[in-house]
Amino acid sequence: MSYQDMFRLDGQVALVVGGGSGIGQASAEALAAQGAKVVVADMKAEAAAETAGRIEANGGTAEADVVNLTDSAAVKALIADIVRRYGRLDVAVTTPSINVRKPVMDYTSEEFDRVVSVNLKGTFNLLTEAGRVMAAQGSGSLTAFSSIRSLVVEPGQAVYAMTKAGTVQLIRGLAVELGPKGVRANAIGPGVIDTPLTAPIKNQPDWYNAYSERSILRRWGKPEEVGGVVAFLASRAASYITGTIVFVDGGWTAIDGRFTPPL
Ligand SMILES: NC(=O)c1ccc[n+]([C@@H]2O[C@H](COP(=O)([O-])OP(=O)(O)OC[C@H]3O[C@@H](n4cnc5c(N)ncnc54)[C@H](O)[C@@H]3O)[C@@H](O)[C@H]2O)c1
Repeated sequence: MSYQDMFRLDGQVALVVGGGSGIGQASAEALAAQGAKVVVADMKAEAAAETAGRIEANGGTAEADVVNLTDSAAVKALIADIVRRYGRLDVAVTTPSINVRKPVMDYTSEEFDRVVSVNLKGTFNLLTEAGRVMAAQGSGSLTAFSSIRSLVVEPGQAVYAMTKAGTVQLIRGLAVELGPKGVRANAIGPGVIDTPLTAPIKNQPDWYNAYSERSILRRWGKPEEVGGVVAFLASRAASYITGTIVFVDGGWTAIDGRFTPPL
């Protein structure tokens, strides 16, 4: 393998679910820029089409599709359709997650089910269907989205954090079962990234600034700073990386406080 092309994904078929927004959009663009043909899927048809259009406008190859990750039959149909059209699936990335931000003692059973259904079951649906195809072809890369909340939590995040820790264990389980079949599985753990998901926080200066100051780099991350890591994990440059979580958090999880002692 040459160092010149170890990040390239020419000829590979990549699926990004959640590609209509934020980190998923950046991931789709990053994969396409390395030469992958990208299927951009989202439950919002217009958003998926917009990302595919941006990729094509930049000289890449992309098409848009609609899927709701919580619908296992729809996920199965999407993957089958990709295999029918392209004959393979090399890279699968899943970003969709939701959060109901409130004290865990106030959570209703319905809210719990809603968060778990997208974050865990939806992620499971996509990774297992894609993993099946990859195991049969003897190669592939799965990437799921966890969070710094898989390790550390704050008020109002208990159920979301639980799903993000669960995602890491799902990835480890997939990695150990599919590794012998040539399939790698990894999670990414973003810190605070400027996307539509976090827009309500950005609109509150105290909260926004507190989050900026919390990381070592003292700022929020940008979607493209995560998209690059998605492309790296999909590439041959990451061929010995599996079963792990890569934190893209500006150092958030490396430090334990919001205070610099006098030195
Ligand atoms: N933005 C952050 O600061 C941050 C921090 C830590 C972790 N994360 C994680 O990164 C991932 C991506 O976050 P983001 O900020 O890009 O989110 P986002 O809300 O901007 O984008 C999510 C996309 O997923 C789609 N989607 C939602 N539910 C879906 C479903 N059931 N089926 C198909 N598509 C669905 C939405 O339409 C949207 O386009 C999430 O897993 C999130 O938990 C984000």
